[in-house]
Amino acid sequence: MTHSNQASTEELVLILDFGGQYTQLIARRVRECNVYCEIVPFDTPVAEVVARSPKALILSGGPASVYEPGAPACDPEIYNASLPILGICYGTQLMAHQLGGNVSPGENREYGKTQLDVLDSDGLFYGLSGQLICWMSHGDLVESAPAGFKVTAKTANTPVAAMEDRERNLFGVQFHPEVVHTPWGTELVRNFLYRECGLKGLWTAASFIETAVHDIREQVGTDRVICGVSGGIDSCTTAALVHRAIGDQLTCIFVNHGLLRLNEAEKVRRMFEDHFHIKLVYVDAEERFLTRLAGITDPEQKRKIIGEEFVRVFEEHAGHIQDAKYLAQGTLYPDVIESGTKNAAVIKSHHNVGGLPEDMNLKVLEPLKWLFKDEVRKVAAELGLPEDMVWRQPFPGPGLGIRIVGEVTKQRLDTLRHADDIVVDEIKKAGLYRELWMGFAILAPIRSVGVMGDQRTYADTIVVRAITSQDAMTADWARLPYEVLERISNRIINEVNGVNRVVYDISSKPPATMEWE
Ligand code: XMP
Repeated sequence: MTHSNQASTEELVLILDFGGQYTQLIARRVRECNVYCEIVPFDTPVAEVVARSPKALILSGGPASVYEPGAPACDPEIYNASLPILGICYGTQLMAHQLGGNVSPGENREYGKTQLDVLDSDGLFYGLSGQLICWMSHGDLVESAPAGFKVTAKTANTPVAAMEDRERNLFGVQFHPEVVHTPWGTELVRNFLYRECGLKGLWTAASFIETAVHDIREQVGTDRVICGVSGGIDSCTTAALVHRAIGDQLTCIFVNHGLLRLNEAEKVRRMFEDHFHIKLVYVDAEERFLTRLAGITDPEQKRKIIGEEFVRVFEEHAGHIQDAKYLAQGTLYPDVIESGTKNAAVIKSHHNVGGLPEDMNLKVLEPLKWLFKDEVRKVAAELGLPEDMVWRQPFPGPGLGIRIVGEVTKQRLDTLRHADDIVVDEIKKAGLYRELWMGFAILAPIRSVGVMGDQRTYADTIVVRAITSQDAMTADWARLPYEVLERISNRIINEVNGVNRVVYDISSKPPATMEWE
């Protein structure tokens, strides 16, 4: 994996990944302590690990048993590299196994919330003592710690729930400090990083920006950069960061496909042109998109048309920018991890980012690719993006096109835009906006009978959808207070022409998805 030589990585921690489901969470806990970390494959050669001058290593959990043939193992030489090491779950079992302790195969499986008895509060458990609740999820367990290790915690079924050899700076915990069900887990991680490794927590949004700016300047030199912006936080933060580094060498392209929310295009333009003074090519392509979408009702076909058309329009305009050598993209760390840590340069094909115009031979610039979403928000705030942008909820690339069930027309878009604006406005007024993954309106292909001022109506139906989610993979419908739902419903029916009914979507994901198409 290529990585930038950032000064903010002065305090680098590497996490050797043994395939655990919580490895990303370990990285997040470390970064919450303002320490930069990266996840690398477990079999990264020791010389390569040492060459990066990490200040500490963490061995992640993983599904294997150390006794399985071909079980993932790091080179035991790593324990002689004079680096502090923290093992977690499988990482601890492996450490014990490789250093001569005894690991027993899982007859006493432990899963879920478990009571932990802390036996020693001098090291990892500094400030933590007595009986604590931790999260266990393991089959095998360490029966006896290797020579030189002290057992610092146990549970009813796990005699070595934590072990430490403070002489050699080797630590292991059988439980998972990285999950929320171990409520004091971050304190343990902090103890490891600050007390045992002597780190100070130098990695902040400001230090990230400083080094990213330095790296972008170094990489780009005097070349020109193009950046496709959608109005979402990832692309806007990318643009603001690249602009901070190279100013007018950056040109942004904003394709308005006509499927944006109320006043959204204008807000994005103002932010780029008036607030940041970034060169922006604004393309009003509404008509072009609506013409291609006319008569189309199939959701997949809509998505395909919007995606294709987007790349085409983007390419046409990118082609006019002479001498561009780079395309900046808002790729984030989870995308990098998901595409395999050994294959970091995969290009995101989301329509709201813009595909790579192939014949222009552009190189990819991904300055956010080491960040998680919450870190991007901090960087965005530090760069001076408006609060409204920093906290913006996700919005799909195909926009309102997939929130109108049935044909997309200008009139139906205007109806939806108006209703959607009311939903968001009332959610914000109730102080619930940041708690939700998304809150929005959908225009259903249903007309129903109503009565308004003694007149019979036969009009459209708006669906209100509000959801909570951690990671977009699963979601629950939000229990919005009835008063908020009432205000939303009253306002939509009174203020939006052609709508006489509002319904609330109470489906979770799975089996429903967040979007309707
Ligand atoms: P679903 O509907 O799959 O949505 O439950 C999960 C999240 O992904 C967003 N989404 C998209 N984002 N391009 C995007 O950039 C797309 O084509 C797309 N489809 C869904 C959706 O808004 C939600 O946040």
